[in-house]
Amino acid sequence: MTKQNLLRAMGSTMDFGADRFHNKLVVSAVDDDSSKMDAITAEHITKYYNSRHIINDVSLRIRSGSFTSFIGPSGCGKSTLLRMLANLETPSSGEIKWWGVDKRIIGSPGRRISMVFQEPTLMPWATVLQNIALPLQLQGVSRNETKEAVIKALELVRLQNKEALYPRQLSGGMKMRVSIARALVTDPNILVMDEPFGALDEITRNQLNDDVLRLQHELDMTVIFVTHSIQEAVFVSSELVILRENPGSIAASFTIDKPAELWNSSDEYRISDHYFTMVKEVTQAFKKAY
Ligand SMILES: Nc1ncnc2c1ncn2[C@@H]1O[C@H](COP(=O)(O)OP(=O)(O)OP(=O)(O)O)[C@@H](O)[C@H]1O
Ligand SMILES: [Mg+2]
Repeated sequence: MTKQNLLRAMGSTMDFGADRFHNKLVVSAVDDDSSKMDAITAEHITKYYNSRHIINDVSLRIRSGSFTSFIGPSGCGKSTLLRMLANLETPSSGEIKWWGVDKRIIGSPGRRISMVFQEPTLMPWATVLQNIALPLQLQGVSRNETKEAVIKALELVRLQNKEALYPRQLSGGMKMRVSIARALVTDPNILVMDEPFGALDEITRNQLNDDVLRLQHELDMTVIFVTHSIQEAVFVSSELVILRENPGSIAASFTIDKPAELWNSSDEYRISDHYFTMVKEVTQAFKKAY
């Protein structure tokens, strides 16, 4: 496996052929006020696998700093769409821009994307520390810098002192935390998460939902998320998109405003009328789409 493919398998999604463009592009883009800029815009994107039509005419804007979730039944094209938004896959037609520029900007400072997959995809022969360090090592980052970044990433996912353990010694929730730390170690501005907590029990999933919201806030990230659970989507999202199937396209989208008084307590938010009303509204729209 080449370095590039290994990096991609771990969710590091910069465009490897285009480093030479970065300096030129960064100057113009980073000068902009990125908080006002859309992180991603997709216009009329379609995707075919051979002759199978998987995604049809999807246009969307992912605001910088937003938390956008996609929900839809198995096979409707969620992962395919996510991979295109993360630049791991190219649309058959249509255009995607990142921070108003094309894919050449991805990977430059302030313009990084990482992906977390449904399976933690950890290397079984490597310790927690080595797993998290791998994307940086493959990018040729120095030992000292790598160690510093790994320690910070471990703190962010609340796994201090677990660096010497091997994946087989971790619970499912801990493995997912390591996978998130590995995505965070490259300091992403956009974190793309494909059904990251689908295999976890409800208590662990709720904890990780809280953690991801905290990380998004602390690290000032834009998050794109896929889940099968309407409850989870409503809980974490500021924007929620329902996809219909055959081929995958947008059926409905929602903006979810969390009242300020509920921001500080996720437990209260989970049992609030505001939350239940949104869950009901999205459930009704979901039923209409299928
Ligand atoms: N690399 C590929 N080559 C050919 N077909 C593919 C490829 N990847 C996905 N597909 C097909 O595209 C369709 C959408 O797949 P995708 O994985 O995007 O669905 P999904 O909504 O993420 O499903 P799930 O909820 O089960 O993860 C499926 O019919 C799948 O078989
Ligand atoms: Mg999928």
